[in-house]
Amino acid sequence: MTKPYVYITRKLDETSLTPLKEVAHIGMWPHEDEPCPREELEIQAAKADGLLTMLSDQVDEALLSNAPNVKVVANLAVGYDNIDVQAAKEQGIIVCHTPDVLTESTADLAFALLMASARRIVEASDWMKKGKWTGWGPFLLAGADIHHKTLGIVGMGSIGTALAKRAKGFDMKVLYHNRSRKPEVEKQLGVSYASFEDLLSESDFIVCLTPLTPETKLMFNEKAFDQMKRSAYFINVSRGQTVDEDALYEAVTTGKIAGAGLDVFSQEPVSPTHPLTKLNNVTVLPHIGSASVETRKAMMHLCAENIALVLHGKQAKTPIHP
Ligand code: GLV
Ligand code: GLV
Repeated sequence: MTKPYVYITRKLDETSLTPLKEVAHIGMWPHEDEPCPREELEIQAAKADGLLTMLSDQVDEALLSNAPNVKVVANLAVGYDNIDVQAAKEQGIIVCHTPDVLTESTADLAFALLMASARRIVEASDWMKKGKWTGWGPFLLAGADIHHKTLGIVGMGSIGTALAKRAKGFDMKVLYHNRSRKPEVEKQLGVSYASFEDLLSESDFIVCLTPLTPETKLMFNEKAFDQMKRSAYFINVSRGQTVDEDALYEAVTTGKIAGAGLDVFSQEPVSPTHPLTKLNNVTVLPHIGSASVETRKAMMHLCAENIALVLHGKQAKTPIHP
């Protein structure tokens, strides 16, 4: 029997792919920092039995309808808004993602970005590297406190819960907004449910962790920024398309809110001239939420395991619809 063929759309760590190497022939796009072009992805998908994709790949109906043998798509991310899940379902394709293994690392990054924004860490570092430290000033690079403030988490999944734990260590009051209430988390961590409006108006730090869906698209719009405190910081570690970036730009440049920390953007990579990347009160990162070496390797390993399982006719470990 010939082994199935699996195409991987980015150069990944070979040892993390061991579970797959044993059961499949592997083709891999040879570059780490450059996406597989669409044309190549189409050619590969047409002959593959499985795909290991990145969130920069559009796995849409056009691609899947010309991929007759594909049985599984494993996305190297917890989010899967780059995949047409309905089209996959109609073709009987199992879609997998990488929850859980990235929870703690992403919560670390979210809290780091919150702290960097409040205490102006990146701005201060850039300022000093430019040789500007010529004297002391009582309010020189003074930022906002974090401890004892109110954190509002929008999207209380496992990353939100892990973020709330970190916030509790800083004696923060934690509010959350989510489609469903989380009574066990409320009890365990002492966090409180709030309506979206109340969360916006009461929080000092608003952290977006919600998946991108038709309902959450552009939920942080002009109206939402209008409801925030003038001293509030908006932090986004989910998807850029949850935000109206023009409204955010207006909010941070007119003093409607104090600042923002952004790990994600509507269009990625952003253009070097993107106005939100030019502001001192906006800390920007190139979508590195889960990017620790340990976690990225664990995500690759999980994708490899999922594909191997499905190709063997077994239940995947982390399908998106268990
Ligand atoms: C990253 O954004 C992910 O969805 O894993
Ligand atoms: C700060 O370093 C202080 O000594 O107050």
